[in-house]
Amino acid sequence: MRIRQETALTFDDVLLVPRRSRIRSRHGVSTRTKFTRRIELAIPVVSSNMDTVTESAMAIAMARIGGIGVIHRFMSTERQAQEVERVKRAEGFVVEDPQRVAHRATVQEARTLLAEHNIGGLVVCGDGDRVLGLVTTRDLLFEPDPNRPVTEVMTPHEKLVTAEPGASMETARNTLRSHRVEKLPVLDRGGQLHGLITAQDIAKVEQWPDATKDERGRLRVAAAVGVRSSDVERAAACVRAGADALVVDIAHGHSDLAIDMVRQLKQQFPDVELVAGNVATAEGVQDLVAAGADSVKVGVGAGSICVTRIVTGFGVPQLTSVAESAEAGQELGVPVIADGGIRTSGDITKAIAAGASTVMLGSLLAGTDEAPGAGVVRKGRRYKIVRGMASLTANIDRQEVESGGELTDIEYERVVPEGVEAIVPARGPVKDVVYQLVGGLRSGLSYAGAGTIEELWASAEFIRITNAGKQESGAHDVEVS
Ligand code: XMP
Repeated sequence: MRIRQETALTFDDVLLVPRRSRIRSRHGVSTRTKFTRRIELAIPVVSSNMDTVTESAMAIAMARIGGIGVIHRFMSTERQAQEVERVKRAEGFVVEDPQRVAHRATVQEARTLLAEHNIGGLVVCGDGDRVLGLVTTRDLLFEPDPNRPVTEVMTPHEKLVTAEPGASMETARNTLRSHRVEKLPVLDRGGQLHGLITAQDIAKVEQWPDATKDERGRLRVAAAVGVRSSDVERAAACVRAGADALVVDIAHGHSDLAIDMVRQLKQQFPDVELVAGNVATAEGVQDLVAAGADSVKVGVGAGSICVTRIVTGFGVPQLTSVAESAEAGQELGVPVIADGGIRTSGDITKAIAAGASTVMLGSLLAGTDEAPGAGVVRKGRRYKIVRGMASLTANIDRQEVESGGELTDIEYERVVPEGVEAIVPARGPVKDVVYQLVGGLRSGLSYAGAGTIEELWASAEFIRITNAGKQESGAHDVEVS
């Protein structure tokens, strides 16, 4: 029998040793980090590509607060691309393809369109997409005749205040303020429509100064794909929808299947950042990076809903796995993501101190308002469901979606689950949950005397603790009220 190493550690096996600190306030530290080689984040938090954690609502919320979300792949390609598109359209001070209404439309038709799209204005276009004017909720509010043409109530082209294509947010804000208007159609010299700027969108953008954005001011988002040949089309659809990163995500990422997929996607989409995983060793990181990965996801069997270690006997305790993988990643200039097993802000600090650049969270975020799925009530308390992507129900749902029908009893019995289904308490908006988690990390940086994550990597010192030490670490010998 070959033993690779005598011990391997996880979060509860260690504590970080406090060091002399020059940090005067936890607000004085920076949590900036890298998700991939080229994508930076203000906070090192990524929401997991699980179907009970990340769809567009979660990804929008995560990007607004400075993290990023990975849209899961357990839905049709079309739907996943739509989810990506929703994130890309959520914010940005220019609506690039604003809703139009034809010049022949009536007031009633315009009202219906505004309500359908939940927006406040429509660009009125003539033949050949020529801009004739702008009609807003206010123009329609007290109009008694629903059959009146929109052209009679709109602000006509010659009276419109407009912006030029490429105008900065600063210029747009000044124009909106000085003309006391709420919307600026973006028109070129030939009168061609290039977008719509609204005061509301600018205010929204300014509300989130740490937001993770692309060069066009849109929120960033990642999309998960598998390793089947059909996943190449899935990847292409997500890239067309605007995905900033693709995440090749399978349970055993250190496999030829994952390596080949990474190589193929890198070749086909050289401008899109590629994340790959999951692996548990330095060799796993090296092979995925050699194939083209710009970031590697680390963690086998550590997740709260995973039973991979029980079912297969495989895995590496998460802190050792992260430390070993991160060292390999740092040598190659590639960040690693610590994925799975994080229960507290202290675990986040430990994972980052061990060398990870970001952490991926599953069940910690599954109870938030933005996680997909309805809540359930048990004994008067609200919960939400979280399930492993290799759990029995997730396996069955996936196979039924793929085959388009119900599984037979035999197919049902052939599933070998490596995950479980569970419930977690409902926890409110994700921004509040992540604020607490990042607050803990910020305090952690100050205990380490580190102003940045790089400084934490350089100075962190762990100490192994005994069971008695672990007991001493939580609230003890009191009744917590
Ligand atoms: P946490 O602990 O944050 O972990 O809930 C989330 C991560 O767990 C992984 N995951 C699974 N692992 N069987 C597994 O062995 C599963 O069914 C399963 N589902 C999710 C995944 O890496 C996720 O980000």
